[in-house]
Amino acid sequence: MKKVLITGGAGFIGSNYVRYMLEKYPDYHVVVLDKLTYAGNLANLADIEQNYGDRYTFVKGDIADPVAVDQAMKDCQYVLNFAAESHVDRSIEQPGQFIMTDVYGTFVLLEAAKKYAVERFVQISTDEVYGHIPQGSSKEGDRLETRSPYSASKAGGELMAHAYYVTYGVPVLITRGSNNYGPYQYPEKLIPLFITNVIDNIQVPVYGDGQQIRDWIYVLDHCSGIDLVLHKGQLGEAYNVGGGNERTNLEITHKILELTGKPLDLIKYVKDRPGHDRRYSLDTTKIRQLGWEPQFTFETAMRQTVEWFLKNEKWWRPLKSGEFQEYYQRQYANR
Ligand code: NAD
Ligand code: TYD
Repeated sequence: MKKVLITGGAGFIGSNYVRYMLEKYPDYHVVVLDKLTYAGNLANLADIEQNYGDRYTFVKGDIADPVAVDQAMKDCQYVLNFAAESHVDRSIEQPGQFIMTDVYGTFVLLEAAKKYAVERFVQISTDEVYGHIPQGSSKEGDRLETRSPYSASKAGGELMAHAYYVTYGVPVLITRGSNNYGPYQYPEKLIPLFITNVIDNIQVPVYGDGQQIRDWIYVLDHCSGIDLVLHKGQLGEAYNVGGGNERTNLEITHKILELTGKPLDLIKYVKDRPGHDRRYSLDTTKIRQLGWEPQFTFETAMRQTVEWFLKNEKWWRPLKSGEFQEYYQRQYANR
């Protein structure tokens, strides 16, 4: 029996990982610690409560609060830190909260992991820590050259995790995932924002020339990579988890319009994001040597994702009102 602390488990990737883990390991108990920010949503975990209620505990709390963290991590052997402020555009508007959660919160978790001598601590990081990659693909030993407040905060968190491995022997592992898509993604990110906008015949704001490139990974492939690193990764090491699907934002937009049967005139070119990284690209040799490979093709997984949003309007419609509308106005009205 393992007790596993999953922070940020009410968010997009965290909730997919909670489901993945409880399905795969019948002898694991999962504790979710989540502050329930605008991006956290108990609806993401509704089926977990029903299907695995006896092996699942939810704790509402902040990873930057040592008391909440201490209580949640007690008796846990594994810790996976998914909790973060995760949206680049919001980090440009309000960087402070990113430092509080992604850097300071990670430090608070590491302190507790040291105190409780946990067996494995996985820090969920991102390919954005490498910065803009004009050509070739990033390897784990490459320099971190962050360019947005989000990526700088994520790099701060993972560097602190590495420091705790070196200095105190905390058994840290780091994953650097590429851009995820799939069910339960909060509709501020490119793919869910564009799918839900076009369903309602609302124009989609393409930043700049739309030629920026991201490497897209289906969320369940990311989950299987994280899970492999948790169980088989070498302590102190970082692992890239990339889908190997590099697409321009315009290609993604065209795919969404094609899958929803919507017209090209829903595309609206708007002012570019400041400091916009034009390309990310991951070399995944290292995690493939551990035995990982993605199971989902881009074509199949994008179709499934669009179908999921079409079928789950009850999930996303409430998210696009209230706070989101204010955010959308601030972000896009004068663009
Ligand atoms: P998300 O924004 O959907 O979810 C973040 C979750 O963390 C939410 O449930 C939120 O309530 C919770 N949270 C935020 N601040 C907290 C705090 N102080 N204490 C406790 N909980 C808090 O994010 P996501 O897209 O699921 O990303 C999860 C992790 O994966 C993040 O660490 C992110 O940096 C990383 N990542 C994301 C992507 C991607 O494409 N989305 C790619 C690579 C890595
Ligand atoms: P996003 O989903 O915010 O992820 P990230 O910035 O972390 O990679 O954005 C993905 C790409 O899509 C990025 O190049 C910015 C672009 N984008 C738009 O063109 N318009 C939008 O409204 C959003 C949210 C993103």
